[in-house]
Amino acid sequence: MRHLSCWATVALQLLYHVGPATAAAVPGHRNHIGGNTGRIAPRVFIISMFTPESEAWKTSMVESGTGNLTDTKIDVPGLSMLYPQVLCTADKSVCQVTAGESEINAAASTMALVLSDKFDLSQTYFVVGGIAGVNPKYSTLGGVALSRYVIQVALQYELDAREKPDNFSTGYFGYGTKGPNEYPTTSYGTEVFEVNDALRNAAYGFAQKAKLADSAAAAEYRAKYREAGLEYVAATEGPSVVKCDTATSDVYYSGTLLSEAFETVSKVWTNGTGKYCMSAQEDNAVLEVLVRGAIQGLVDFGRVVVMRTGSDFDRPPPNITAYQHLMADQNGFATACANLGKAGVEIVRGILQGWERTFQKGIKPTNYIGDIFGSLGGQPDFGPGSQTNGTGYAAAPVQARAQMRTRGFRGASVVRRRI
Ligand SMILES: *[C@@H]1O[C@H](CO)[C@@H](O)[C@H](O)[C@H]1NC(C)=O
Ligand SMILES: *[C@@H]1O[C@H](CO)[C@@H](O)[C@H](O)[C@H]1NC(C)=O
Ligand SMILES: *[C@@H]1O[C@H](CO)[C@@H](O)[C@H](O)[C@H]1NC(C)=O
Ligand SMILES: *[C@@H]1O[C@H](CO)[C@@H](O)[C@H](O)[C@H]1NC(C)=O
Ligand SMILES: *[C@@H]1O[C@H](CO)[C@@H](O)[C@H](O)[C@H]1NC(C)=O
Repeated sequence: MRHLSCWATVALQLLYHVGPATAAAVPGHRNHIGGNTGRIAPRVFIISMFTPESEAWKTSMVESGTGNLTDTKIDVPGLSMLYPQVLCTADKSVCQVTAGESEINAAASTMALVLSDKFDLSQTYFVVGGIAGVNPKYSTLGGVALSRYVIQVALQYELDAREKPDNFSTGYFGYGTKGPNEYPTTSYGTEVFEVNDALRNAAYGFAQKAKLADSAAAAEYRAKYREAGLEYVAATEGPSVVKCDTATSDVYYSGTLLSEAFETVSKVWTNGTGKYCMSAQEDNAVLEVLVRGAIQGLVDFGRVVVMRTGSDFDRPPPNITAYQHLMADQNGFATACANLGKAGVEIVRGILQGWERTFQKGIKPTNYIGDIFGSLGGQPDFGPGSQTNGTGYAAAPVQARAQMRTRGFRGASVVRRRI
């Protein structure tokens, strides 16, 4: 997430955690794969990052009659100390975890969830997302984006721009390279993830049914982009649902030069396909965990939706400095939170309503899905190519899987995708 009103967040978090920590594991109400394992098998799992986002989801869930996420509270060891419980509707078809902000919290919490023996997540759809910095070329304050690629844009060398060679466009350049905008020659594995585009298209159809919120105050800041002409016309319009990609960075960057640098990196690292429009602090972390879970057959990486809503522009309008822009209240925060819930709940409803017909069996991806290593099999359409000759990485050896099973996990299975 990206936001400036930290004091409000802290206040909300305190309020939220004052209540008694009543929690008990509740037996699973169904299991779509085999015998009853006693584990909860949600059809949709919402992954939020902090309180204002999770509250917006709760509000939209209740308002739309989709369920009350505070009906069931489940302690899960290893979640954030700020958000130690998973919340679910009474029938446990929809659950929500609040991971905590930025990459470390997001990875740690998501891993705790994926390895928890309280859930069977093998058929679960994950709706990952939160509020974001927004690129004025493609969307606006309160705008909703559904992504196919997420790119860890700051995983690079960095020279302070005051010390960079004069002919560098930015102080950032990829590992193993000699300058900006070359493809990195060393991969950590988390640089780029690609999710199921056919599912994204279905989610886009659902999200478009939402009546999105807007505010006069947000419109006022948007109007400042008019002077920039056609390039930023999307910034000046009211919120809508768009398809474009998400950049992850722990650093909350702001300004035209950094935003353009990361926009270019997003394009280069996706071999020209990625179109950066939202900046987040968590998404690559969450998706790395889901890839690892998919290798073990614990989750299906073909069932991941990445959604972000614009709370603040990543770069200023004309005649405003980067610093003034960062310090200004752009008045997009409340609208972004509201639209996360409003658009998100339509995706949840679409999946629930189409469960038997479509979603239980899954939407077959037509694009490559997974990471830059090719961990789930297939040939990535970006990066240096599969590290496994297209076969994907194997699940843990039989002995380790047996240990997992004694703790209640299903063994690795067919949910890994081979395209
Ligand atoms: C949701 O459930 C909680 C706990 O059961 C309850 O306190 C709250 O009033 C419910 N909210 C709505 C809007 O029904
Ligand atoms: C910058 O200039 C140096 C020296 O002329 C050259 O070797 C290098 O390729 C240039 N780098 C970029 C990013 O243009
Ligand atoms: C903003 O700057 C541009 C030139 O960059 C200038 O033409 C325009 O008049 C300025 N607008 C205001 C409101 O200062
Ligand atoms: C992506 O671009 C890099 C750099 O040009 C190239 O080495 C690599 O083969 C490309 N990957 C794919 C899948 O096209
Ligand atoms: C991939 O194929 C190459 C050439 O056939 C082989 O040398 C390499 O060991 C293979 N790697 C894996 C992980 O199977």
